[in-house]
Amino acid sequence: MVKVYCIDIKDAAIDSDWLKYVSEEKRQRLSRMRHPQSLAHSLVGDLLVRYLAVQYLEVSNEDLHFETNRYGKPYLVDPPKPFHFSLSHSGHWVVGAVSQNPVGVDVQLMEPIDNNFAQRVMTPEAYEHYLKLPDSQRLDYFYDLWTRQESYLKLTGEGLANGQIGKIGHYNEFLLRDNGMYYQMRTLESNYKLAVCAGNVDFQLVMAHVPLDRILPQLSHSRN
Ligand SMILES: CC(C)(COP(=O)(O)OP(=O)(O)OC[C@H]1O[C@@H](n2cnc3c(N)ncnc32)[C@H](O)[C@@H]1OP(=O)(O)O)[C@@H](O)C(=O)NCCC(=O)NCCS
Repeated sequence: MVKVYCIDIKDAAIDSDWLKYVSEEKRQRLSRMRHPQSLAHSLVGDLLVRYLAVQYLEVSNEDLHFETNRYGKPYLVDPPKPFHFSLSHSGHWVVGAVSQNPVGVDVQLMEPIDNNFAQRVMTPEAYEHYLKLPDSQRLDYFYDLWTRQESYLKLTGEGLANGQIGKIGHYNEFLLRDNGMYYQMRTLESNYKLAVCAGNVDFQLVMAHVPLDRILPQLSHSRN
């Protein structure tokens, strides 16, 4: 089963006191972020995954140690049982997927794109399909493919580093390339797309909304 937790940060007042719940490395990374929304995304994502690890693994926040792979994918070091997660943020949403098996999640605010951009990032087959669609369906199609592909990249943890995937492809191209990977789409709001990628066909997907103020009391131990 995959569970996706969603936090709406639209009206959240981000408090610098929350920094005490994350690691020193994370605090340093956050201190280099110039854009307040990027900082809020990254901090709330970190708090969310800590909250989930505390709940699922019944350990305290101060015992959690995270590392990142060479491409930036975060993982929990030596969890007492399998604990896979993936984080994504866009607009006023921060989402985290957890599972006992590898998982990837991607959320995107569907901002307008122009055809030049679409052509640049899509395969010829996908772009041809995109052009055939009525204007009203193009954005939906584009972000559907985009988030699926990003969720796949989030699962593997390789980003675009392996050089095999540089453009977003049409559905058939997905099936050929990502053999053994499956996708489910969910709608958070009409102008957001959310894709989840996992290795089981028909994987069970449960969505949950978490208020930000439910997280902090679970992280009561601060890190120094
Ligand atoms: C991580 C990646 C896969 C997507 O990042 P993104 O869409 O910009 O950002 P998201 O909000 O969805 O996810 C960011 C989170 O993913 C996680 N992450 C970072 N690198 C990761 C990686 N290599 N694999 C998995 N997860 C990763 C982190 O938790 C990060 O949160 P943080 O920045 O607060 O630490 C990015 O490295 C990448 O390669 N993007 C490709 C973009 C692109 O050009 N795509 C073309 C069409 S597919």
